[in-house]
Amino acid sequence: MGKNNGLCRWACLFVMVTAVFLMGFLIGWYGKPTEKSTEFNSFQSVRKKFLREMKAENIREFLREFTKLPHLAGTKQNLFLAKQILTQWKDFGLDSVDLVHYDVLLSYPNETNPNYISIIDEHGNEIFNTSLYEPPPNGNENITNVVPPFNAFSAQGEPEGDLVYVNYGRTEDFFKLEGEKGINCTDKIVIARYGKIFRGNKVKNAIHAGAKGIILFSDPADYCAPGVDVYPDGWNLPGGGAQRGNVLNLNGAGDPLTPGYPAKDRYVILGGHRDSWVFGGIDPSTGVAVVHEVARSAGKLMKEGWRPRRTIIFASWDAEEFGLLGSTEWAEV
Ligand SMILES: *[C@@H]1O[C@H](CO)[C@@H](O)[C@H](O)[C@H]1NC(C)=O
Ligand SMILES: *[C@@H]1O[C@H](CO)[C@@H](O)[C@H](O)[C@H]1NC(C)=O
Ligand SMILES: *[C@@H]1O[C@H](CO)[C@@H](O)[C@H](O)[C@H]1NC(C)=O
Ligand SMILES: *[C@@H]1O[C@H](CO)[C@@H](O)[C@H](O)[C@H]1NC(C)=O
Repeated sequence: MGKNNGLCRWACLFVMVTAVFLMGFLIGWYGKPTEKSTEFNSFQSVRKKFLREMKAENIREFLREFTKLPHLAGTKQNLFLAKQILTQWKDFGLDSVDLVHYDVLLSYPNETNPNYISIIDEHGNEIFNTSLYEPPPNGNENITNVVPPFNAFSAQGEPEGDLVYVNYGRTEDFFKLEGEKGINCTDKIVIARYGKIFRGNKVKNAIHAGAKGIILFSDPADYCAPGVDVYPDGWNLPGGGAQRGNVLNLNGAGDPLTPGYPAKDRYVILGGHRDSWVFGGIDPSTGVAVVHEVARSAGKLMKEGWRPRRTIIFASWDAEEFGLLGSTEWAEV
């Protein structure tokens, strides 16, 4: 009896465990949603699909394509790229893509009279000149439309003065010089290194300190602008002068929201600028290439049935280098 009881208990336990296991298995099996509904029904599944779709090789290829030629804001090449991106974004499957036009003031250097910095001896002779042009990267010797170093919107002039090193050209750097070290920057040419603050504010600080001019340099070359930029800001370097230009922004929108989705009037905006001083190898084209691949992948997923819960706007802005002109115009209008 005791033995039978024990056996029965074991058998019951076995049956129960098996039943529970089977139930779990069946729930797992039949409860598993169909392939179709899992595809885009959660953030995780969309993310997974997105990441699986994006290819490093495509980004590499886009980067190569976007950096083949100089594409300064307002130039033919940058317009060409805008049109190319427009066509591709349409092909990718974005719902609508528009080229938006703004009239802005841009400035370009005088190529026959390029800027340079010189060191002058006590007799007024130029004993050292910076180069007028940058050497082209290997294999790009015959590329045209490479602008000589210049500072956009600078007036013309030929400032002359003693040189003062002002570190990053921050307010605290000027305070330190004037306060602690007793160095007066009035009528000096100041030389500042890139970094820490926006370059335009270095110019502003230099003007505020009474300097006649400012030279900015890369330290080390962690910035992709030409080696030395000249910011005469109202003083002369030969060249300068402003011309009217056009900038073109590109905006590719996803679909206006499917009714019922929350926050209809809100967007996800993913973009960056397209214009570069010269080739734009790092700034901005690495970003441009990634946005392009994201747009392509989004289009691909949409073709497979995905709709974003909010409208996604992809953007390719012009004239960032001149002071965020394209994106500002777009946001303001
Ligand atoms: C550019 O420089 C050349 C040579 O100095 C000068 O003749 C020409 O007028 C300048 N062009 C502009 C638009 O300032
Ligand atoms: C710098 O350029 C000026 C005029 O362009 C020239 O007269 C001078 O000799 C040059 N100096 C050096 C050191 O090359
Ligand atoms: C640049 O042009 C010259 C003359 O036409 C040619 O000999 C040279 O191979 C070209 N260089 C490149 C990198 O295309
Ligand atoms: C620097 O010198 C100028 C004139 O040379 C003077 O007007 C200015 O007050 C001085 N600035 C300081 C901070 O001493």
